[in-house]
Amino acid sequence: MKEKEWKLLLGPYRQAVDELKVKLKGIRTEFELGKAHSPIEFVTGRVKPIPSIIDKARRKQIPLDRLEEEMQDIAGLRMMCQFTDDIRSVVHMLRKRNDFEIVEERDYISNKKDSGYRSYHVVAKYPVQTANGEKKILVEIQIRTLAMNFWATIEHSLNYKYGGLFPEDIQLRLQRAAEAAYRLDEEMSLIRGEIQEAQVIFSRKDSE
Ligand code: GTP
Ligand code: MG
Repeated sequence: MKEKEWKLLLGPYRQAVDELKVKLKGIRTEFELGKAHSPIEFVTGRVKPIPSIIDKARRKQIPLDRLEEEMQDIAGLRMMCQFTDDIRSVVHMLRKRNDFEIVEERDYISNKKDSGYRSYHVVAKYPVQTANGEKKILVEIQIRTLAMNFWATIEHSLNYKYGGLFPEDIQLRLQRAAEAAYRLDEEMSLIRGEIQEAQVIFSRKDSE
């Protein structure tokens, strides 16, 4: 594909990510104004870089003219939560929305991956208005706690370094780190009430 073709293909994906970032961050602002605990801590989004798209297409044997149908994460959003239970609230909110249609959910929290990876994935079809009418774009939304995100970020950079093949000791460390992250989430859940009271007091002070 030529530069221009990539730009044409990826334009609507950029649009989708930008729009959804604004919308999903908006939910957090709503909770803040209502002085209620926000199940969303922060939201990020990205369009997959072209070399990564080409790489993944080769790995998964996806023809480049089938990317729109077969590559689900060209547009990617991440929603980070403080507590594991918040993930469920966020997923409920996503299911109730009518600006996109959920086409798949993958629960890597109940079923963590062998690597130790945990997150909840929602794949949705999001309509973007283009000069040529409406275009439905596949977007992947990953919902995870801050601890899950910490682990996944570190594992991802190590993966990059080792090209996906970890030395055994590193693999073991990562699995142990995943366990530790899991326990951290559990411990935080147990003192959730305390934490939230403190955060309410803190945000009250903030707005004085
Ligand atoms: P890819 O893993 O993206 O090739 O596609 P898939 O169809 O297997 O989907 P899956 O749900 O397994 O993964 C989608 C995305 O989740 C990935 O692109 C990563 O962002 C994330 N992910 C999945 N597994 C791992 C993992 O073991 N470690 C990290 N850091 N991220 C992962
Ligand atoms: Mg995978």
